[in-house]
Amino acid sequence: MVSVEGLTKVYKQKGKPEVKALNGISLSIEKGEVVGLLGPNGAGKTTTIKCLCGLIIPTSGKILIDGVDTVKNPQWGMGKISAVLEGNRNIYWRLTPKENLSFFAGMMGISRRKRREYVEELLHIFQLKDKEKSQARYLSRGMQQKLALACSLVKGTEILLLDEPTLGLDVESSYEMRQLIKSLVADAGKTVFLSSHDMKVVEDLCQRVIIINNGKVITDDTVKGLQQLFKVSSYRFNLEGELPVQARYQIKREFGLCKIGRDGANARIDVELKSAERFYDLVEILKRHCCPVRSIDHKEPDFEEIFLKIVRGKK
Ligand SMILES: Nc1ncnc2c1ncn2[C@@H]1O[C@H](COP(=O)(O)OP(=O)(O)OP(=O)(O)O)[C@@H](O)[C@H]1O
Ligand SMILES: [Mg+2]
Repeated sequence: MVSVEGLTKVYKQKGKPEVKALNGISLSIEKGEVVGLLGPNGAGKTTTIKCLCGLIIPTSGKILIDGVDTVKNPQWGMGKISAVLEGNRNIYWRLTPKENLSFFAGMMGISRRKRREYVEELLHIFQLKDKEKSQARYLSRGMQQKLALACSLVKGTEILLLDEPTLGLDVESSYEMRQLIKSLVADAGKTVFLSSHDMKVVEDLCQRVIIINNGKVITDDTVKGLQQLFKVSSYRFNLEGELPVQARYQIKREFGLCKIGRDGANARIDVELKSAERFYDLVEILKRHCCPVRSIDHKEPDFEEIFLKIVRGKK
């Protein structure tokens, strides 16, 4: 549905050095997918999204939507894609939610009667009915974000680009936003490409993630695939009493990636084991040094750890 090939963007400003924000990005998004775009600050996420929705012109590269080159045919692209950018800049601050929605519906040529029904429906779905008469600038951040998403839907396109849809939202608003996005995909058949710094959001919503850094794609895989790739078992060994110095040295030497700490008078070891046999090796060392084990907790690596390892080049 969306295919990007060798996308490059160089920002040029008078008297300032050029910035190569995108350096040959290639990716594709299939119909009905929810794809996450991740990357550290300045990686090029917003620039990618702005190129896709036609807000900025790439320096080189191709963007194809349903096979049509949107750099050459921007009108086609605009008819296929809606975007909610950082800071909800797609809504008018001095208009109320109702006026914002009516305005965008009017722009789309929806008749006055249909428009009224449609706006009511959106106000209801996005729980903005109570605030329909407050100017957008007086709404909370979460409500502004919902309104921005509602306004982007008025265009009725199949593809939605969302730049950090849960940025600055509290736990409950972030949850509500995620539910709304899920229902847009499940019930309205939307295809979503979203950027986020919140790994929970990505894990919860996206089947696939594309990680970029310094304007290049460094990973493109399913969330499950990445979890599998990084499946090292992490354990916490809670000991009874101190860990003798010799045992400490041996464990550090043999299990480089481990953290030895304490919990009151008792020592504890956090360790990542690459194979099941290593578990018994550690138990053997503890036995040899007469260190009783109180309990052992097991934890899978979380998505945040996976992301950091990829960006720091550990895999
Ligand atoms: N209008 C602009 N003029 C010049 N440089 C820009 C402009 N917009 C972005 N950049 C630069 O391009 C690079 C990529 O920026 P971009 O906003 O795409 O990153 P991002 O991944 O969205 O980061 P963040 O996570 O902080 O939102 C950065 O080095 C940024 O400073
Ligand atoms: Mg950004």
